[in-house]
Amino acid sequence: MAETALRHRGERVAGLTLGQAFAAAASVLRQAGCETPELDARLLICEAAGLTHEAYIARARDEVAPEIAARLDASIGRRLKREPVSRIIGSREFYGRSFLVDPNALDPRPDTETLIEAALELVERNGWQKRPLKLLDLGTGTGCILITLLAELPQANGLGTDISAAALALAAANARRLGVATRASFIAGDWLDAIGGEFDLILANPPYLAASEIALLSREVAEFDPRLALDGGPDGLDAYRRITARAGQVLAPGGRILVEIGATQADDVAEILRGAGLRLDEAIGIRPDLAGRPRSVMAGV
Ligand SMILES: C[S@@+](CC[C@H](N)C(=O)[O-])C[C@H]1O[C@@H](n2cnc3c(N)ncnc32)[C@H](O)[C@@H]1O
Repeated sequence: MAETALRHRGERVAGLTLGQAFAAAASVLRQAGCETPELDARLLICEAAGLTHEAYIARARDEVAPEIAARLDASIGRRLKREPVSRIIGSREFYGRSFLVDPNALDPRPDTETLIEAALELVERNGWQKRPLKLLDLGTGTGCILITLLAELPQANGLGTDISAAALALAAANARRLGVATRASFIAGDWLDAIGGEFDLILANPPYLAASEIALLSREVAEFDPRLALDGGPDGLDAYRRITARAGQVLAPGGRILVEIGATQADDVAEILRGAGLRLDEAIGIRPDLAGRPRSVMAGV
């Protein structure tokens, strides 16, 4: 079965150098309409050869060993079926750290880094760096939000929840991998239903796609991200209504809730927060991403 994905398209890997195999793989992915063929090919060849990017550049003239050719071919075959590169290699970078990913949780997205920036800005503004903060991450998935903040804020502790037990197992593995397991707990639950106590910061990147948007998803997302992580109900806002209804009861005095939103949802989510008796944070409020689209909303009691 080795080399089928490349050979079927007139490309062979055995006998080529790593650099030539990269060019062949990128060409196959480009012809298949992948959006970032060079980047994908580079990540897949580094993974197949067990090389960092720097080592790959240094060894680009080495001949490809047969077992590396077979691994590269298998992963190109998976990519041609639209499986995301992160899923093929089993990890994804988020805010400078490498998270394990699997079919049970959303692949961490760069958009969600906006949430991290807003949270860290709040901590700095309030002088909370030395305070033993309590964080709550609802719908934690891979754990990328909670774990990143625990890594950035060594004095913080946090609870991550999800309705998916399999996602929680992945998040716990990521907490161990990234050295924050002693400050992170994970429990299964339906949004805030079973949560008690007081938290300084509640975070959530809930499923927020409307039914009309689900129908338009790329194959990479529709076939490989869990539906539970995407589907926000008929208008995409179900989870915000559920979460905000109880958020005020579990916020510590001066605490904040910070949610990621879809680019067109700022007004609706702000209205839902106000309807639940929460006020938009005066300084951080609605936060845009690098492209200027509103991507997170912060509010307090
Ligand atoms: C958009 S994903 C976000 C994952 C992760 N926090 C991130 O930012 O990459 C939403 C998460 O919410 C979880 N979820 C969906 N419905 C839920 C519910 N009723 N209660 C708790 N979590 C839920 C999903 O399993 C999924 O992990």
